[in-house]
Formats: sequence, C-alpha cells, structure tokens
Amino acid sequence: MLYNRAQMPKSTSVFFCNSCGNEFAKWAGQCPACHEWNTLVETAPFLKTARTKTGQKVSLKPAESFTVKTALSSQTGYTFSTGIGEFDRVLGPGLTKGGVYLLAGQPGIGKSTLLTQLALSLQPPLSRGGGQQAGGVLYVCSEENPAQVASRITRLQGLSSQADHIQLLNTSCVENIIDALKPTISNRDLKSESCDLICIVDSIQSVSTVTNPTTPGSPSQIRDSASFLIQAAKEHSVPLIIVGHVTKDGDIAGPKMLEHMVDTVLELSGDRQHLLRLLRTVKNRFGPTDETGIFRMDGGGLNEVKDPGAILLEGRVKNAPGSCLTMIMEGTRPLTVEIQALVVASPLPIPRRIAKGISGNRLQLICAILTKHLNLSLATKDVFVNVTGGLEVKDPGADLGIALAIVSSVKDKPLPENSICFGELGLLGEIRKVGFTDKMLKEAKSLGYTIVFSPLSHASIRSIKLT
Ligand code: TYD
Ligand code: MG
Repeated sequence: MLYNRAQMPKSTSVFFCNSCGNEFAKWAGQCPACHEWNTLVETAPFLKTARTKTGQKVSLKPAESFTVKTALSSQTGYTFSTGIGEFDRVLGPGLTKGGVYLLAGQPGIGKSTLLTQLALSLQPPLSRGGGQQAGGVLYVCSEENPAQVASRITRLQGLSSQADHIQLLNTSCVENIIDALKPTISNRDLKSESCDLICIVDSIQSVSTVTNPTTPGSPSQIRDSASFLIQAAKEHSVPLIIVGHVTKDGDIAGPKMLEHMVDTVLELSGDRQHLLRLLRTVKNRFGPTDETGIFRMDGGGLNEVKDPGAILLEGRVKNAPGSCLTMIMEGTRPLTVEIQALVVASPLPIPRRIAKGISGNRLQLICAILTKHLNLSLATKDVFVNVTGGLEVKDPGADLGIALAIVSSVKDKPLPENSICFGELGLLGEIRKVGFTDKMLKEAKSLGYTIVFSPLSHASIRSIKLT
C-alpha cells in the first residue's frame, strides 16, 4: 500500500544512543554522532509536549526572565549541612535546596546504607550550618520494600522512634513521587530560608514513568524518569538524591545524559572485601570536585575515618622485599598506602603483568621504563602488583612506589627501613613533580619517615640506590 506524506503512519519508536544520548530514526551499528559502536537501542520517543491523562495538550507557563540582580534576589539555592562531616567535605557547601545529586556505586558497596544514615542525620529540629534547618525526608523505596529500609534504620539507629521524620514511600511510579514532592496546604514556603523536605530515590533504575512504555532501567526510561523528577525537584525547591547503578565496566548504568542532567555526581567506591569506602565527586555544580570522603564499613554502617593510613597499613610485614610505602593524594588529603610487587620467572611464552588497584597499562609502562633505564630483565618474568587495603589508586604520584616495589622484588632486597616515596615517572626515567609535593613531604616528616624518595631528593630513577 502506498501512502502520501500526510497518511504515513507515525513511527512509534526511535533509536537512542546510550553513549551520547542522540536520537535517530534508523538503527546503525555505529552512532553517527559520537561514532561509538553498538550503542543504539530502540526506545519510545520522548514526549516533548506535556499532555493531560485524556491526551490534551497542557498549556505551558510563560518563561520568566530575570536581570542578574533580580535573579540573585530570587535565589533559593542556599545550602545546609548534611550532619555527616565527610559527606559535607565532598559536597563542598553541603546540600543545596533544589539541587539534584546522583550517587553511583557498585552493588553492595553501601549506597543505601549511606543514604539511610544521611536521612537519619537530617533529623529536625537540629540546627544546621548557618542556623538553617532541614525538615522531613522522603525515602522512595522502589528497590527494597519499606520493611527492609525500616529494619536498616533500626539497625543503624537502634531506636526507630527517632526516625519519625523519615517517610518511606512505597512506589516505583515517577508520577506518585512527583505528587509527594508538591507542597501541600501545610506551611511549605519555597523561598524561606529553610528546607522542609529532602527526597531520596533509591534507585533511578527501578522507577518508571507512565508516559514511557519501556521497562524500568531501559535508557529511555531512565532519561524520561530522571527528567521529570529533576524538573519537579527544581520547581518545588526540594534537594533530590538519586541512586544510580553502575555497569560491570564501572560506568553509570543508563544514558550518559543522566550525568549531564544532574547537578552533582557522587561516586562511592572501594573493595567489598575491605573496610574502606571512598566518596568522591565526579561533577559538582555547587563546589569543588577535588575532595574525598573516607568511611569505614562496619556493623554500625559507614563511619567517618580520620586516620585511614592506620587501616591501610594494618598487619603490614616490615622489611619485606617487594613492599614499598607510598604517599598518594586523595582529594586534598595525603594518604599512606602499601604497594606490593612480586616478580617471578614466567612459565609462559608471553609473561604476565597483573595489577590490582592500579591500571594494567600503567604497570606495562613502568615495566618498560625499568627495563630501559635500570636494565632490569623483566622479559621472562611475571610481574604482579597489588595495592593493599582494596584501594584503587589513580594518582600518578604512585608511579615511583610501583617501580621501587618491583625493583625491590627483583633484587630481593627490602627498601630502607622508615622510608616512603612519591613521584611520577616519565618515559625518560625522570622523577617528575606531582601536585601538593610540599604537603606530602610535610606529612611524611610528621609521620616519622626519615628517608623520603621524591622528585625533590632524586631527579631520576637511576639515581636511587637500594642498599
Ligand atoms: P547496601 O547499602 O545495601 O549497598 P548498595 O545499596 O550499595 O547495594 O549495603 C551493602 C552491604 O553493607 C551489605 O552487604 C551489608 C553491609 N552493611 C554493613 O556491613 N553494616 C551495616 O550496618 C549495613 C547497614 C550494611
Ligand atoms: Mg541499595
């Protein structure tokens, strides 16, 4: 049957790129916009015009326009403390009214635990930073049932009677959540210098909007649900914290667009087999992204850690060949970690380079630098490197520590007692300066280390002589 243009049936689906978020009418193996492969998935088109339940168009409010002066005076975006020191440290100014936060992390890492503790800590009528006050907490239980969340609250708090300000909303429907965010006849004053409602949605992958027919967790469902929730949070000036799952590659599940839509992206990381959990900001519209919150997971939930070095070095064997103490920066805080290396003859034609806690490519690079500049014969050896405590180290300042641990294992000689190191390795074997060098040096001295291998003491890896 032939259609003329007016009679053509409307397409009911579009193809959506999981990587860049662009939409296309036709499927392709490679996204025409961002050139990523296999990222286009079929989805329902986004409803650009708001409609009532009977399908009629909703009349839109005219756009408001401001001058800089009026915009500043209409600002409701003031902040208040979460009551958890390490959380505030990461956020910068604390939680902002109308701000949207995305908390991402591996399953079982402690996202729900952290947000339950946050909900408990925001208990009114505690006076918040600057004398402002926070009110009730709306905890949307879409992933767990209210009984599970309530039992976690009792486990963390002991006394459930102290959690009366937490309202557990048992729904996975975005429209129900938005209804609960609307100010009721109760005295919610959106422009007041207080925040009377905070909303936690655990998680964005388990909620859905009726306007999108796809299953919860699909890229277009996440996009539409997040978009409606964010719109409502901004309109009603409610801080909204959304939990996001991560994929096995460590990316936040769903479209990349989700990260663009929210104000702040927080990442809770760590090794589930170990106690330490690090909270970092990947993006922050309200403050810096260079701070890290450090917590310890135990029977009482996530507790703030003031001396993470002590946990990381617990049970360390002193004077062992292949062990090197290294100072790294976590945000603006120096941290002492132990890097261990094991170098053994390889039974394989292509020897292995296995890294835990650092990237495999970095290990390959450091092995190449050591082969070239120290004449270390690693071509027939397997090299294993591990950062103890389950930490994932991205700071390039750990390069020297990795190199010295490998050298120490090859030569079967321990590094000098009471020594520590930091510095980035260049391809020419030079030891390069890293950020906060003076701060790390000061910290090393204050911890009692007498020998510090650093860019200030040695210009090149060749000049370090192990006794
Ligand atoms: P959870 O917060 O449910 O993880 P997520 O929401 O990120 O998937 O908690 C994960 C783990 O934390 C769980 O396996 C048990 C552990 N846990 C503790 O060790 N202590 C505690 O007090 C709580 C509440 C949980
Ligand atoms: Mg959870």
